[in-house]
Amino acid sequence: MKKKILLLPGDGIGPEVMDAGERVLSALMEAFKLEIELVHGKIGGAAYDATGEPLPEETIRLALNSHAVLLGAVGGPAWNGVPFEKRPEEGLLKLRKTLSVYANVRPVRLPTRLSHFSPLRTLTSDIHMLIVRELTGGLYFGEPKGRMVEDGEEKARDTLLYSESEIRRIVELAYKLAEKRSGRLVSVDKANVLATSRLWREVAERVHTAYPHVTLHHMLVDAMAMEMVLHPETIDVVVTENMFGDILSDVGGALVGSLGLLPSASLSDHGLHLYEPVHGSAPTIAGRGIANPIGMILSVAMLFEYTLSLQEIAEALWQGVESTLDDGWITADLESFVEHRSHESSRPYRVIGTKEMTERILEATFRQLKRKGVVA
Ligand code: IPM
Ligand code: MN
Repeated sequence: MKKKILLLPGDGIGPEVMDAGERVLSALMEAFKLEIELVHGKIGGAAYDATGEPLPEETIRLALNSHAVLLGAVGGPAWNGVPFEKRPEEGLLKLRKTLSVYANVRPVRLPTRLSHFSPLRTLTSDIHMLIVRELTGGLYFGEPKGRMVEDGEEKARDTLLYSESEIRRIVELAYKLAEKRSGRLVSVDKANVLATSRLWREVAERVHTAYPHVTLHHMLVDAMAMEMVLHPETIDVVVTENMFGDILSDVGGALVGSLGLLPSASLSDHGLHLYEPVHGSAPTIAGRGIANPIGMILSVAMLFEYTLSLQEIAEALWQGVESTLDDGWITADLESFVEHRSHESSRPYRVIGTKEMTERILEATFRQLKRKGVVA
């Protein structure tokens, strides 16, 4: 049966990086004669402008009829004035909730040979962590939320709520991922202050009994922010609640030189997953052809891994990205630290646009596939 993949470009640089994702998908579909149909839909501000809704019914229908959804980015200053519940971001949150993609897996990976991309001078070995972010609960979704006037002044409220089952399923997935990797899991919370964090910690302990070979450490989120900067090489799998995961994954982006490098997979239990780069819509550079396509291309790699179970292609894409960067080809977002540190490493580099970057990564990926004998 033909598999359907829904493409939702969204706003800002979303359409540009989606072109890159589509180019990579099409090239691999052709090379491997994959029975896949690419379907296009609308989300975010683009959908709001066209239909009055950031997540139109039609998009929900298309998503539920797909085997995977690939998303660009949503939001931008153009929609600052729209009612809160119609904002582009609400479209994305509603999509995550509708698809029940509760587990957002965000790999943060920088091999030592690319350490000149990092602003850190202290890196001595590879960064290779996996941030597992709870995606459909917590402060983002808790009710009641909203604005009110009380005692003659304006107030606003958000609710931080987690149930045992919501914590259990994400922590279980994190243990499974840790088991396949180093066997080390760090659960991040704020248990010295928050009731939800105390429940989180207890549930993480309870689930631990089923995973005796994984070592569990707890860390407070403020300490974790520091640890990620001071000793990123020592961190493997991290599991945390929605907002902490959002914040810590941007720290991860900074560690490897640009948020533009980070992909993610948002996984459900029923097999329909959502793939989204971690970066946002970057409105200030939108439409100029300079956006970094790597977060998107690696999100496609994650789609090959988790939806299509074509691990070799997924890994070839990662290798293709890393070897292209190693050859000195970069996008503008990567320039500042490289420029700064190329004096130390005396490595030449050249800034190229979205399209050229995509082609170079594709070529490098096919070189990898040929070397391994996966394609002729
Ligand atoms: C992310 C983004 C989103 C989030 C926004 C756009 C709603 O920052 O995927 O990290 O906060 O989840
Ligand atoms: Mn974010």
